[in-house]
Amino acid sequence: MIELSYFERWWLNSWPHRLHIQRYVPKLLKSSPAPIVGEVLEVGAGSGWSSRRVLETFPQVELTAIDVDPRAAKSFAKLKEKYGRRLKFSEADVMHLPYDRASFDFVLAIHVLHHVEHLPQALRELIRVLRPGGLIGIADENQHLVVGPLRWLWPALHRINAKELTETLEAEGAEIVSSVGTVHFSIWARKPYT
Ligand SMILES: C[S@@+](CC[C@H](N)C(=O)[O-])C[C@H]1O[C@@H](n2cnc3c(N)ncnc32)[C@H](O)[C@@H]1O
Repeated sequence: MIELSYFERWWLNSWPHRLHIQRYVPKLLKSSPAPIVGEVLEVGAGSGWSSRRVLETFPQVELTAIDVDPRAAKSFAKLKEKYGRRLKFSEADVMHLPYDRASFDFVLAIHVLHHVEHLPQALRELIRVLRPGGLIGIADENQHLVVGPLRWLWPALHRINAKELTETLEAEGAEIVSSVGTVHFSIWARKPYT
């Protein structure tokens, strides 16, 4: 796991980021190729801003949120007061998810995959815990465009972009349903039935 920079930690709790998440996450979710219902896993849920949007936008969803950073538990304790049994939080690493095969209908990874050491292993885990026919929604920034001092502000372990992500998802057996954007991109992929 990479430690977030002080700047990124500040940014994640700042109002510009909140505003961005407030606008962007419902847009991403509404672009899903199938209605978002059932059991949803969100990895790298961090401050909980994106989880809150998921729960607000889709009242039929039960959300399990995970983050490797123990500090995230505090934000989720507050959110649980509002959403009760619809929300569970666990401290966990996306590289080794503590869930059985085929446990979820949807998996969301919002601004997190650039933090992982080994992208194929992380994607393998996301696919493993998904039910056949289930969907993975990914949003991230093209890390090749993060240059100079921006690399210090937004450190990344993995310099991902949409092309590499779609190729790796396909290599791990998922079907790409859509891939939109190059600077800030979103991808939907399906776990096949067979
Ligand atoms: C840039 S933040 C994004 C948070 C949130 N998804 C959002 O968009 O506001 C990335 C989050 O991923 C978490 N993270 C990094 N590596 C992880 C890993 N291996 N497993 C789970 N979470 C991880 C970090 O602790 C951080 O909270």
